[in-house]
Amino acid sequence: MKKRYITTPIYYVNDVPHIGHAYTTIIADSAARYFRLKGFDTFFLTGTDEHGQKIEEAAKKRGKTPKEYADEISAKFKALWDEFEISYDKFIRTTDPEHIAGVQKAFEKMYQKGDIYKGVYEGHYCISCEAFFPQSQLIDEEFCPDCGKQTGIVKEESYFFRLSKYQDRLLELYQKEEKFVLPKSKKNEVIRFVESGLQDLSITRTSFDWGIKLPPSINDPKHVMYVWLDALLNYITALGYGTDERLMHYWPADYHLVGKDILRFHAVYWPAFLMSLELPMPKHIATHGWWTRNGQKMSKSKGNVIDPKAVADAYGVENFRYFLLREVPFGQDGDFSQKALIDRINNDLGNDLGNLLNRIIGMSGKYFGYAIQSHDVAKLYQKELEEVDAILQALPPLIEDMKWHKFLEELWQALAVANKAIDCHTPWNKMKEGKEDEAMALVALVANILAKVALMLHPVMPKTTQTIAQALGFRINPESFAKYIDQSQLLENFHIQKVPPLFPKIEEPVMVEKKEPPKKAKKEEPLITIDEFFKTQIKVGTIQEAKELPKSKKLLKLLVDLGEERPRQIIAGIKEYYTPEQLVGEQVCVVANLKPAKLMGHISEGMILAAKDENGLTLVTPKTRTKEGTPVK
Ligand code: MSP
Repeated sequence: MKKRYITTPIYYVNDVPHIGHAYTTIIADSAARYFRLKGFDTFFLTGTDEHGQKIEEAAKKRGKTPKEYADEISAKFKALWDEFEISYDKFIRTTDPEHIAGVQKAFEKMYQKGDIYKGVYEGHYCISCEAFFPQSQLIDEEFCPDCGKQTGIVKEESYFFRLSKYQDRLLELYQKEEKFVLPKSKKNEVIRFVESGLQDLSITRTSFDWGIKLPPSINDPKHVMYVWLDALLNYITALGYGTDERLMHYWPADYHLVGKDILRFHAVYWPAFLMSLELPMPKHIATHGWWTRNGQKMSKSKGNVIDPKAVADAYGVENFRYFLLREVPFGQDGDFSQKALIDRINNDLGNDLGNLLNRIIGMSGKYFGYAIQSHDVAKLYQKELEEVDAILQALPPLIEDMKWHKFLEELWQALAVANKAIDCHTPWNKMKEGKEDEAMALVALVANILAKVALMLHPVMPKTTQTIAQALGFRINPESFAKYIDQSQLLENFHIQKVPPLFPKIEEPVMVEKKEPPKKAKKEEPLITIDEFFKTQIKVGTIQEAKELPKSKKLLKLLVDLGEERPRQIIAGIKEYYTPEQLVGEQVCVVANLKPAKLMGHISEGMILAAKDENGLTLVTPKTRTKEGTPVK
């Protein structure tokens, strides 16, 4: 029997599940359900990623051990997926003893092969951004490309993986496997990255503890493994790599579902690790885009994170599944709004799908006592059957390429054929004209189309389609899929049952969204004396000149007149909020007695005051025009 192995990323336990996690998981679940329905032996893996500094710190903040904290959050992910009836076959945790043993085995193998060596990690570190940057990305060779602050060199003993050794083989892989990265358009960025030159990868850390130790045979207890090496290996340790290998026949993975932010880890590092382990390559790294909110990235600090459980509670988990897959082309970013979700439910689901079932129930009841036969369908409605068949036969490649939005769009064309057939052939007129056979064939045609749509839609809306199947009197399973989809057969008889409306109309948003960002816990602010306050000299100034700093995303270079002999040069991080033209002539308040500092190689002789909230940043200015140099008290 053919197999399929499908994975989600394993989710970090430093945060609770949000819509992005639900998105990846629901796509993977739909794929797994589709392949099961096609009769494939399918293994679907999800789980949690529990090691690393971020998690160690998150636990510490809450006064818990990392394991206690990981247990708590991992359980929340599992509970949510269970509530959503995600059909995973295994939920892996990177703190599972089998995973730890498997990772150590893999490390040992790579080490023995000579692909891992000990060295010193030396990198430019920006404390403010908590990130290392390669020399090539720095501005003027020393400033952080993100915030413009000076970076420092940090040195740490580390083990390295010989990533550079695999550069050519990786490029060959991308060339040979046309669909290694899906959508195909995303492959170019991976190729460009690899072509620009791969450096060996630091794969151990000594600066924190919460990670997998090196194998006992290497005996170097200071080191723990880099979290990405540990995490990526979950895809094989879940099958028992290095311990009980009975499930290893599922390897290689057919689909690793990932978000675009972690494509590089999956399309570059992971295949290189696998090459080193002499294991086959995954078939597809399927990369989706990001969900945003009003065009902005979701983040806890902005308070705009969408809780998938709240959406599912308000609108139904299956409607939410349909929306996620239908609304955004796979690979692109999409904006979440309740309005878009409601439109999909009322129009696509309510009008096109739900109403069709109602029409079948209504007509079959009124005219035929809920019993319908298909014997005249092929004779009378050949054209419609051929149209629907052509639509259905074109669908599997769309799913195999993870083009879920296109798949659903095309599937809805089959519903359009059915709805159009009713409107054109008006069974109620046929009944009046005494053409009962023709009317029954029409209702049977439409019931057949709906049954086939339900079979195809089943992976995306498992329960709803079961209700449709129950109403039409057939079963959804691999046998019926093979018969009615693969072999294009017709259902012979229908015993229609009434069911309550599938998609009651939604008039207005149901979910209450947080308007306010979450209140930060108030820290005890220490009080200062008036003398201490007066140590800070704030003066009114007028901006004489404003220029962009090439290469900087955030900084502008200003000349500000403070009533002194010469204007001050001030480097201000306001470029995302103001253009240089908006600033010239504006009055501002300047901290005038700050020690000069260098930002991106330019001296800054003061600081401009500004206020920033979730809507953006605004400069603090005197209400009326004020003489330059006037102190602000
Ligand atoms: N632990 C790593 C993955 C290791 S896999 C070997 C990780 N975890 S994560 O929890 O931060 O993110 C998991 C997934 O959620 C990623 O695929 C990421 O792209 C996805 N999303 C996080 N926020 C998202 C949105 N706002 N929208 C869509 N998906 C996004 O990375």
